[in-house]
Amino acid sequence: MDEKINVLIDEDRLCDRIKEMAEKINRDYAGKSLHMIGVLKGSVFMMTELAKHITVPVTMDFMCVSSYGNGTESTGRVKIVKDLDEGIAGRYVLIVEDIIDSGNTLHYLQKVLEERKPASLKLCTLLDKPERRVVDDVTVDYVGFEIPDKFVVGFGLDYAQKYRNLPYIGVIGE
Ligand code: IMP
Ligand code: MG
Repeated sequence: MDEKINVLIDEDRLCDRIKEMAEKINRDYAGKSLHMIGVLKGSVFMMTELAKHITVPVTMDFMCVSSYGNGTESTGRVKIVKDLDEGIAGRYVLIVEDIIDSGNTLHYLQKVLEERKPASLKLCTLLDKPERRVVDDVTVDYVGFEIPDKFVVGFGLDYAQKYRNLPYIGVIGE
């Protein structure tokens, strides 16, 4: 049976905010080339919407990680399912995420990618659930929206692999 989805952030608000984020990123990376790393699969919508408004030279790569948890809770253990295609040494890297929840995924990614010696490593996320953070030392450089502790879907985010295609962020059945 399909769940009822209530809109939390509509498409216009998402796209306006992502454009603002891109403008800030363009200012911050002026004179540099940006290497965007999208974390599959959730970040795909955010990655493409953001990239449309980036005006500095940009390249993209993707990586896929999975946390060993089941359901909606993260266990803190993360493994690389698909690594990057290219090296990042000396590059200005921006990790693009859909959402930061416990912070475990980004904490792990940050550690792994720092070891590859990028010129800089920054983090960008569409959504942040600060109430859920269990890892303290994750600094997020660009945040689209802070949201309450609710399970959200759409714009790349899934519930059991469903709803990624919704053009808005919604909350399941309330
Ligand atoms: P973290 O490692 O706990 O920060 O979790 C990050 C990952 O969990 C995200 O990249 C999502 O794939 C997933 N996740 C966390 N919260 C939600 C949510 O509300 N909806 C859908 N996926 C979520
Ligand atoms: Mg994700």
